[in-house]
Amino acid sequence: MSQSYAEEGASAAALADTPDETADPVLSVRDLEVEFPTPLGVVGALNGVTFDVPRGKVLGIVGESGCGKSVTARAILQIIEKPGRITGGTITLRGQDTQTEITKLGPDSARMRALRGREIAMIFQEPMRSLNPVHTIGAQIAEAVLLHQTRDRKQAHERAVEILRQVGMPHPEAVATSYPHQLSGGMRQRAMIAMALSCNPGLLIADEPTTALDVTTEAQILELIRDVRDRSGMSVMFITHSMGVVAQLCDEVIVMYLGRIVERGSVDDLFHDPKHPYTQALLRSIPRIGGDRKVPLEVIEGSVPDPHTRVAGCPFHPRCPQAIPGRCDTAFPGRSTAGPGHTVHCHLHDDDAAGHTEPGEDA
Ligand SMILES: Nc1ncnc2c1ncn2[C@@H]1O[C@H](COP(=O)(O)OP(=O)(O)OP(=O)(O)O)[C@@H](O)[C@H]1O
Ligand code: SF4
Ligand SMILES: [Mg+2]
Repeated sequence: MSQSYAEEGASAAALADTPDETADPVLSVRDLEVEFPTPLGVVGALNGVTFDVPRGKVLGIVGESGCGKSVTARAILQIIEKPGRITGGTITLRGQDTQTEITKLGPDSARMRALRGREIAMIFQEPMRSLNPVHTIGAQIAEAVLLHQTRDRKQAHERAVEILRQVGMPHPEAVATSYPHQLSGGMRQRAMIAMALSCNPGLLIADEPTTALDVTTEAQILELIRDVRDRSGMSVMFITHSMGVVAQLCDEVIVMYLGRIVERGSVDDLFHDPKHPYTQALLRSIPRIGGDRKVPLEVIEGSVPDPHTRVAGCPFHPRCPQAIPGRCDTAFPGRSTAGPGHTVHCHLHDDDAAGHTEPGEDA
């Protein structure tokens, strides 16, 4: 039986958003919408977000504060702060032979609890959010191992020490018997990564894990994540404010603005041929090595609109230096293809395939 036109359109759109059409993504997010009801009205935190996390690669997610990076990560694990909730779209986790529709699972269901940590692990900017101050580091990692991997306490402890060694922790046996407050910030971050890696998750979601660290420790942590990806084939979703971190770590990048994806491409595409004026502005705001330190960095003109306001047309138009009057302030830009795996939502790049999708219809 042939597909309906609507189905054909939907699958074509899904394929076009996948950088490599033969790719086998570990996670697929489609038309995801998240709302927060507040006393001042409903905040649309995600307004139709669509992307794939490629298997065995690092996908960077960038954008200014409040654009929806953390809400995207928390939606995947179904840990959105109340009263926020997913109001539309799907999230599908793809194992080697299994497929789980996360959006069909109850947030507190046994399957969802088993999935957190074992199949998808998350690390945060502040390790103390994940580490328990009253238990030793070794006991906490062993606990995670006992939950998902073995029932043998001795084995679990040995595995904890082994993982600490793998993440480059100095003196792993001694650290295993230490409490979180006895470690430096960088060591705590390594301990949290060790805990996240303890169950060999297929997908690691890292929400700005290096923002609070000094540059040297940050570089070591990024190296560690790259190393684990290469050794174990783990896929990583790495959220950051920093285009510099993206350049050091990521294979592909999505750029978010006001709860939408505005551009997606390889790191090379985005650094050498950025198409969206917002991506171009983000890139101008990073310091250049050897650049004149007396020249101030260009900050992005204007500020992110109040989250309660719904901006007509392109959400970036009030700040965009290239906005086309009568077009950008009225019509939401559809998705255009800028090259293989490189897509952009901007009227400057409208093409025949892009059409004029409505907000939420496509990202
Ligand atoms: N608990 C909440 N209550 C109401 N609105 C919220 C809440 N959490 C998030 N939001 C809304 O969702 C939007 C996206 O928030 P999110 O935390 O995902 O931003 P972010 O991109 O991670 O920013 P940052 O870079 O500062 O971490 C915010 O602008 C805010 O409007
Ligand atoms: S659609 Fe218009 S306002 Fe939006 S980024 Fe492109 S040029 Fe600027
Ligand atoms: Mg955040």
